[in-house]
Amino acid sequence: MVDASRHPNIELLTYTEVKRVEGFVGNFKVLVEQKPRYVITDHCNGCGDCAPVCPIEVPNEFEEGIAPRKAIYIPHSQAVPLVYTIDLDNCIKCYKCVDACGKLDAIDFGQQPQQKWLDVGSLIVATGFDSFDPSEITEYGYGRYENVITTLELERINNTAGPTTGQIMRPSDKKMPQSVAFIQCVGSRDERYNIYCSGFCCMYTIKNALQWKQTHPDSDVTIFYMDIRTPSKGYEEFYRRAREMGIRFIQGRPSIITEDPNSGNLFIQAEDVGLGQVIELESELVVLSTAAVPRADTDEMGSVLNISRSPSGFFMEYHPKLRPVDSPTDGIFLAGAAQGPKDIPASVAQGSGAASRATRILNSDTWEIEPIIAHVWEDRCISAKGKKCGICATKCPYNAIIVEQGKAAEITPAKCHGCGACVAECPHNAITQLHFTDAQIIAQLHALLAHEPEKKILAFMCHWCSYGGADNAGTSHFEYPASSRGIRVMCSARMDQDFIFEAFRLGAGMVLVSGCHPQDCHYISGQQVGAARFDKLAKRLEKMGISPERYRVEWISAAEGAKYARVIKEMDETLKSLDPKALKEEIERTRPEFERRLRRLPEIPDVAEALEMTVPA
Ligand code: FES
Repeated sequence: MVDASRHPNIELLTYTEVKRVEGFVGNFKVLVEQKPRYVITDHCNGCGDCAPVCPIEVPNEFEEGIAPRKAIYIPHSQAVPLVYTIDLDNCIKCYKCVDACGKLDAIDFGQQPQQKWLDVGSLIVATGFDSFDPSEITEYGYGRYENVITTLELERINNTAGPTTGQIMRPSDKKMPQSVAFIQCVGSRDERYNIYCSGFCCMYTIKNALQWKQTHPDSDVTIFYMDIRTPSKGYEEFYRRAREMGIRFIQGRPSIITEDPNSGNLFIQAEDVGLGQVIELESELVVLSTAAVPRADTDEMGSVLNISRSPSGFFMEYHPKLRPVDSPTDGIFLAGAAQGPKDIPASVAQGSGAASRATRILNSDTWEIEPIIAHVWEDRCISAKGKKCGICATKCPYNAIIVEQGKAAEITPAKCHGCGACVAECPHNAITQLHFTDAQIIAQLHALLAHEPEKKILAFMCHWCSYGGADNAGTSHFEYPASSRGIRVMCSARMDQDFIFEAFRLGAGMVLVSGCHPQDCHYISGQQVGAARFDKLAKRLEKMGISPERYRVEWISAAEGAKYARVIKEMDETLKSLDPKALKEEIERTRPEFERRLRRLPEIPDVAEALEMTVPA
């Protein structure tokens, strides 16, 4: 931390919040607000003369509330910079600190928040995690029983720089407990709270248990666990060492903890899976290994940075395997537990990765962007005519579209990733996607349905998942009927309802729309935009007279070749089971309605051309 603060190329802004982020990769503008410390950083030398004279004591957040701090304080003894801060919410303005500071004259109660804009090329988000509040699990009695503590509290008690100078003592009587029980997965792997595994709790619990056993070999140390997870280098050996040292491992999640009010001892009831019976264990201290949860302000930060959250609530990476340190917004990278629970080695590796990814941008004069971006036809955009619309901007997962009253929608090319959501959602056909224009897709549609369309399954596939799934079916030699014809677009968000109308108008026997599973979409919320549209469309098609079995929506990942083959087989069987005469009648009966709905398409010259295109036999 000290090295970072001294580095000539690093400007350290502590006690500072990011308020706004504008711009795009290589050209971000960031509005930051430095909070007032009420202490002049350049004057304060961290001597600490002010704190002892302060009459106010409040719980010290860094010490997990075990010890107090003053209203003028430093967060911890190794804080960088080593500058005091006044907690104005608790300060009574007795001004004793001003007298103690003397000639340094570092106290300034007149300080105000300072805002400034920064020009930066890229951003790294390393905001860490919070700890789950175990008082939510009332059966464990945290907050009710003094001797039920969290691991972080134990870490502080066990630390020589902590409030007890490293002397382990239980809160109720300040005595060294002769027995301790650690409980794993508190708030994680639990459907009531968080279903994910916090990843590093097994190892830090074993570390704490080992330390305990090393310093107090006669004490009784028990770990209640669901599964012990030791996937990294040297971890399994560490676990083995703990067992060899006599630490007792009991597989089973405790159901309830009760307290003997006289002794303060705790009784843990659990099912011992190994014995296959319910047991009760008496322990002088219980330590809860709490889940790592997203920071409380993750939502707020996510909307400032325009990066999304995965179902667990942590920031979502661009791709879990191929781009694990990139956020979905170009130029913004993720490091450490902000992206998901991880231990120190993994955080260091990801931090190094993020720094190196960011450096690529800082060292480049130019930056290549995708050629498949969206483009607005200004004369068709009704915002330019002063009317209220802006639908495109609400559907863009990247905030790449600006809509101002009286002006056509404007796309920032460096922010657009080419999902096509805006193109498909624009009710005025005022946006197109380069290389995936309506005309190009409709031309493909016409070619694929030129002959015996009623015997064909037309499959729309997103580039990243379902198209990969179809490819996987082929390379894995999974057989499926030859009646399917595929059209590739970048994301299911690009699958315009007009394409589906046109496919049915041309007499396609079946239409399949397919894309990534919700969490796998490469365009943040593209899949959700597509899914909402397809849901509505199913009802609309039925109203228009299309038999429900002729339209199917499936989410297929690139690894699910077998699923792709199965879906096509099932659709082919359904198609073959339809009465050909009734199917023909349905196609003829519904065609005029599709024509009516599609009549606006020929207004676009290149679509008109595509519609009239004749396809050679
Ligand atoms: Fe596959 Fe969005 S990329 S659905």
